[in-house]
Amino acid sequence: MHQTPLQYSPAFHALQSHHQAIAGQQMRSLFADDPARFSRMSLDAAGLFLDYSKNRIDDQTIALLCALARERGAEALRERMFAGEKINTTEQRAVLHVALRAPTAADDISAQVQAVLARMRDFSDRVRSGQWRGASGKPLTAVVNIGIGGSFLGPKMTCHALREQRHPGLDFHFISNVDANELNALLPRLDPETTLFIIASKTFGTAETMMNAQSARAWLVGHCGEAAIARHFVAVSTNREAVTVFGIDAANMFGFWDWVGGRYSVWSAVGLPLMLAIGADGFAEFLAGAHAMDTHFRTAPLEANMPVLLAMIGIWYRNFFDCSTLSIAPYWQDLQYLPGYLQQLDMESNGKHVAIDGSALQMATAPVIWGDVGTNGQHAYFQLLHQGTELVPVDFITVLQEPQLLTAHHRALLANCFAQSAALMRGKTAEEVSVELRAQGTPADRTAALAPHRTFDGNRPSNTILLPQMTPHALGALIALYEHKVFVQGAVWGINSFDQWGVELGKALAMDVEAALDTSTSPSLGTQDSSTAGLISRARASATHSATPDSP
Ligand code: F6P
Repeated sequence: MHQTPLQYSPAFHALQSHHQAIAGQQMRSLFADDPARFSRMSLDAAGLFLDYSKNRIDDQTIALLCALARERGAEALRERMFAGEKINTTEQRAVLHVALRAPTAADDISAQVQAVLARMRDFSDRVRSGQWRGASGKPLTAVVNIGIGGSFLGPKMTCHALREQRHPGLDFHFISNVDANELNALLPRLDPETTLFIIASKTFGTAETMMNAQSARAWLVGHCGEAAIARHFVAVSTNREAVTVFGIDAANMFGFWDWVGGRYSVWSAVGLPLMLAIGADGFAEFLAGAHAMDTHFRTAPLEANMPVLLAMIGIWYRNFFDCSTLSIAPYWQDLQYLPGYLQQLDMESNGKHVAIDGSALQMATAPVIWGDVGTNGQHAYFQLLHQGTELVPVDFITVLQEPQLLTAHHRALLANCFAQSAALMRGKTAEEVSVELRAQGTPADRTAALAPHRTFDGNRPSNTILLPQMTPHALGALIALYEHKVFVQGAVWGINSFDQWGVELGKALAMDVEAALDTSTSPSLGTQDSSTAGLISRARASATHSATPDSP
């Protein structure tokens, strides 16, 4: 379907003129002139609270941005997604992760989803209660998820985020990298008789996952024998045949479907580690939180729609202020893997340079997503956020509920979170710096020399998202919020947010390079450029092992 390029859209033109008018305005003055700014520019949805008042916007900006979302058909595309239409056109697939968290309904998809959830619940209950035993009769104590990308980031991020609610008798480990160091470091610490491996791969063909799975399998068989596989390996996949060929009985496989994108799959059987960690009821709450956000996204007017507002404010900075990055700053240690999770969600979805009809886009698309937990980031890269030459919008995310112990730490954490967004917005003028330095008795010439270094321009934007508590429900709502944000941005840019062809070239080249690295054969470097050939030669010269598989 052909869509008019964004740059020709009337709403986009209106925003360009509006941008010229507003770009020079200081947020400081906007706050000073309008005591109701915070209450007008904040909202609650699905148990989350969003403050978007510290942005370089006014009411007209929001009206124009929402007009742009409407004009670009975001609402119509949203309905097509929920209706199960094949909006992932390059792969001819529906995009129905929302169906994974919808209440039970009388349709085929719901029946399939509920059937897998019931099997997951049964398995998880048995592992958690100790009823499921390893091959030698011992209950399991460690769960190792082997997967990469969407089959890794979601399970790892959520299991860490809900660390406090995890089953005390189970340890969780996540192996993704093909780098031997990861497995080499973990396996000696595990007891094979009490370890469960979950091999998570939508395709069951991803090279890194398959290599790690084979090595883990060899390790287990080496310790416990072939028959132990049935008690220590389960699979999560859409590819039953490959799972069976690997040696995992289909009875120990938890399926999902091609209409679940890898980076949208934590709600499916890919979420099995989370279910094992927090229990099936906790997992149901996690799904319910996401569903609450789905309902809000589907029904709230755009001007009061949390994912739409986050998306359109993001577009405001990306396409009008030319901000090429977005920093994610969770002020909550257990959310440490959220920036990495959102990196895949956003950059693999919207890091595209062609429109859905194949035409070249003239507009910038996904920003680079990056970040780390506060307060750590403050002592590393916040300098650049405050005084650098790049304008970097920030999403601050924190949790209001105090921990049981060390509550003063929590006060300090919140204080830092709120103070950082205030400092970025407010800045500090040269005049304020001079007054301060003079009050400290600094000589006039020193004051003049220091003032430029100690001045903050301010006017640097941020959103703040508050979770009342770190519960499965709140976490589900938070992830769904960002999923729908990414969806709306993809709709406005006119791209297919649900394929990922950009990862294929490197995968294909790696196969040739891996063959060329095998010292048991003579090198075939003819097709390689001189840099790649030179690197391969150096690696071959230092290799001590041929490509024969070895077991750890
Ligand atoms: O290479 C990218 C990718 O396809 C991601 O989209 C996906 O999440 C990841 O690889 C893992 O894929 P799979 O679950 O099929 O192993």
